[in-house]
Amino acid sequence: MELRGELCRLRPYRGDDADALRCAADDFMVARWMSRRFPHPYTRADADEWIAIASSAALSFAIEVGGSLAGGIGVEPLGGERTGSALFGYWLGRRYWGRGIATDAARTLSDHALRDGGVRRLEATVFAPNVASVKVLQKCGFGLEATLRAYYLDRADAVCDGLMYGRVST
Ligand SMILES: CC(C)(COP(=O)(O)OP(=O)(O)OC[C@H]1O[C@@H](n2cnc3c(N)ncnc32)[C@H](O)[C@@H]1OP(=O)(O)O)[C@@H](O)C(=O)NCCC(=O)NCCS
Repeated sequence: MELRGELCRLRPYRGDDADALRCAADDFMVARWMSRRFPHPYTRADADEWIAIASSAALSFAIEVGGSLAGGIGVEPLGGERTGSALFGYWLGRRYWGRGIATDAARTLSDHALRDGGVRRLEATVFAPNVASVKVLQKCGFGLEATLRAYYLDRADAVCDGLMYGRVST
C-alpha cells in the first residue's frame, strides 16, 4: 500500500533503498533526538536490517520526495493491555528539512492510521529541544499529555525533558 501526501509519497521500503537510506540517515543531526534504536553511525548493514524489519510492518513507510528516498515514518502498534495504541515516529534527511515535508507526511499517516489503520491512539515522546518535531505533532492534531522531567539523555549527553504527545481517533 502507498499513501499520497501533498509534498511526498509514503511507500513501502524496497531492497534497492539501502544506499539512499544509509546516505540520508547517517547524520548526527538526524540521530540526535531519535531513539537509540536508530543507529549512529548508520551503516549499509543497518539499512539492510531496517528494510527487512520495515518490510514486514503494516504501517512503516519510506518518505519519497521527487522520486528519491527522503526519510522514514511509521506507526508501531503496542500489544497486550495497550492494544489499539501505537507509537508514532518519523525522520527526514537534512537536505529535506524546512519545507513542510514532515508535517505533510505525519498528517497523511496519522490521519490514515486513525481512520483506517485499526489504531485508536497514537503517541510520540519528543526530546524537549526538538522544536521542529513538536511543531509537526501540534500541526497534526497531537496534544501535549505529559512532561517527563529529565527523561532523556541525548546523543550529545545533554539531559532533556520528554514531551509526550498523543492523538486519539475521535
Ligand atoms: C523533526 C523533523 C522531522 C522536522 O521536519 P521538517 O520537514 O523540517 O518539518 P516541517 O518543515 O514540516 O516544519 C514543521 C515546523 O517546524 C518548524 N521548524 C523546522 N525546523 C525548525 C527548527 N530547527 N527550529 C524551530 N522550528 C523549526 C517549521 O518552521 C514548521 O513550523 P511552522 O509551520 O510554524 O513554520 C526533521 O527536523 C528531522 O528529521 N529531524 C531529525 C529526526 C527527528 O528528530 N525526528 C523526530 C523524532 S520525535
